Amino acid sequence: MAENQPRLLRGRILSFKRQPMNATDTEAFHYLEDGCLLMEGGVITAMGEFANLNSSLPPDTEIVDHRPHLICAGFIDPHLHFPQVQVIASWAEQLLDWLNDYTFPAEQKFADKSHGQRIASGFYDALIDNGTTTAVAYCSSHPNSVNAYFEEAETRGMRMLGGKTMMDRNAPEELCDTAQTSYDDSKALLEKWHGRGRALYAITPRFAITSTPEQLEAAGALLKEHPDCHLQTHINENHNEISFTRELYPDAKDYLGIYEDYGLLGSNTLLGHCIHMNDRELGVMKETDSVAVFCPTSNLFLGSGLFNKAQLEGTGIRTGIATDIGGGTNYSLLRTLDEGYKVLQLQRQRLHPFETHYWATLGNAKALSLSGKIGNLEVGTEADVTVLDAAATPATALRMETVTTLAEELFLLQTLGDDRSIRETYVAGRPMKTRN
Ligand code: GUN
Ligand code: ZN
Repeated sequence: MAENQPRLLRGRILSFKRQPMNATDTEAFHYLEDGCLLMEGGVITAMGEFANLNSSLPPDTEIVDHRPHLICAGFIDPHLHFPQVQVIASWAEQLLDWLNDYTFPAEQKFADKSHGQRIASGFYDALIDNGTTTAVAYCSSHPNSVNAYFEEAETRGMRMLGGKTMMDRNAPEELCDTAQTSYDDSKALLEKWHGRGRALYAITPRFAITSTPEQLEAAGALLKEHPDCHLQTHINENHNEISFTRELYPDAKDYLGIYEDYGLLGSNTLLGHCIHMNDRELGVMKETDSVAVFCPTSNLFLGSGLFNKAQLEGTGIRTGIATDIGGGTNYSLLRTLDEGYKVLQLQRQRLHPFETHYWATLGNAKALSLSGKIGNLEVGTEADVTVLDAAATPATALRMETVTTLAEELFLLQTLGDDRSIRETYVAGRPMKTRN
């Protein structure tokens, strides 16, 4: 069919309006048993009951019948590392050894653009297979890795965020830039990519350990000049990381105080991990409207600690949930929700499946300040959609026989689901998973 032909998806529609308060808060979402979604020119132009919309469709509309599956907003992954596709499943001690032994060597390969292009192809296939339509990635410190990353996203029409990792110390020489070159290269990449099609640039100082004060100052200057860009970094992930950081920045009030001193905080700032936070740091995050990103599979795999969602959200801090590939162990947001649920269970913070599903979609869109564009299926939003099948495997089909409510179905998807549960992934209205 012609690429600009209107397309109607028929099936069960689930779209969040806001964060659900509890298990009975059905006002927080739209749910239509026989619903449909009209997609034209990459955006959603109608959403409602099939019986109501069917009679007034544009004449050349293609109708795709996804019944009995669940049509939802595409998943959003607000923290992962594009050059770590070949780092996943590396047997290491904890964070710093894992970085030195596996991650830095793997990232060095991205000096060669053709390596980045090959990895980008597999990386985006993995996202699409898992129903993820938007992600925020760290590229390597090589500008060409950023070009490979955004070029592939552009080919696929995806809304992606990312940036060149800035790092000028405590890493192999081959990966190190300088404060000045990291500023110049990031600025050139930002000017090339930010706002081009669906691409958005994220200024990316890796973390305080791998940046000199001069480099953090450069990152702060860049953010000040381009406040509509995102900024991403890591914080308070691991005890050894925190001690080393405090040695490197002895005058800072605490870890967050370093980023605060260099002007890196704000409503577009994404702080990966935020596990070992003190009260002052929580207060500053709230004041600056900075975002905490939970990476459960990574936190468990690297033995980093337990993210305290209730404490962060109780302070009024926005949170996201992410895979953190390749410290994280799975591309699937369903697998990630499952592990996140267990991390919170250990702390007696039991999440309802409405809330977990909200988190991976509209919650993450709000964490990125991109609600209104992505994260739900409202008219006028971008047509990034995933179609979920809770009975995709023999074992889940058997379990599905006993499911009687939407909440139970979502919980089954989260607990046993993975890429096999994703029947289709639409990017800007185009089917991408089954395109071949
Ligand atoms: N801290 C600094 N770099 C990294 C990284 O690549 N992964 C994780 N999990 N933490 C980091
Ligand atoms: Zn990370």
